[in-house]
Amino acid sequence: MLTHISELLADAKQNSYILGAFNVDNLETTIAVVRAAEAQKSPLIVQISERTIKYGGLKTMTAMIETMVRDEAGNIPIALHLDHGRSFRSVAECIAAGFSSIMIDNSDVPFKENVILTRQSVEYAHKKDVWVQGELGVVKGLEEASPDDREKFMTDPAEAKQFVEETEVDTLAVAVGNVHGIVKLKKGLPKLNIARLREINQSIPNTPLVLHGASGLQADQVKETFTYGIKIVNLNTELKLEFTNSLRDALIAHQEYYDVRDILKGPTDALQRVVEEKLALFGSAHRV
Ligand code: 13P
Repeated sequence: MLTHISELLADAKQNSYILGAFNVDNLETTIAVVRAAEAQKSPLIVQISERTIKYGGLKTMTAMIETMVRDEAGNIPIALHLDHGRSFRSVAECIAAGFSSIMIDNSDVPFKENVILTRQSVEYAHKKDVWVQGELGVVKGLEEASPDDREKFMTDPAEAKQFVEETEVDTLAVAVGNVHGIVKLKKGLPKLNIARLREINQSIPNTPLVLHGASGLQADQVKETFTYGIKIVNLNTELKLEFTNSLRDALIAHQEYYDVRDILKGPTDALQRVVEEKLALFGSAHRV
């Protein structure tokens, strides 16, 4: 059941569990995530990026997700979110398409500009009853920042307070040593700065924090963040890797395959299993 993200977060808060936000790109990845939610009786967030919108089309993607959630997820609450919106235009288009939550990511511009641009989206979104996620500090890809650099891109707790007060964002993506993308899985995983996360949480205790770049992180490390305000965990790369590795294996093992439905069944099931494992880790399984 497509549900407003505020309802998911309220229930997660009341019952002390965390929400997974899973990126989907096409029919099969959406099937995997929605079926995982249903199989585990778990609320979750389905998110798409601007690149996915370019790839599949906003209307097509939205209609597909909405239909699948309605037909396959029964009463399981699922929220639809724009991941890393970079422009006001994408924000407005996703709001028009029926998303209950959007991210406006201006983390790469100076603080004041980030406040102004984020505030613009918040004012627009709140009028339409849509929640907004901002980002402060920069969650880099490892290719963009050395481990030493990463410290200077981390979210500043005092700035976080000012940012939330001035923009009125509903949720905040923080940079506490986390990095996006695949490079970390090859070059060594980052260590999260839990002390920094705790300080951020203390300065904005009522703002649900979002952990981006969770792919590949040790389960214990991810769990530790739950004590300090992380309420949403974003996963993308790990899902893509599972799907692609399984696809590669299927094509090598079954040279006779020529039907796309045979080829994609194994990878879709493999992805669903990974999502189900994450739901168990987040404590959101069997909540409905
Ligand atoms: P990963 O690709 O590292 O899982 O990060 C996902 C993410 O943060 C999406 O916003």
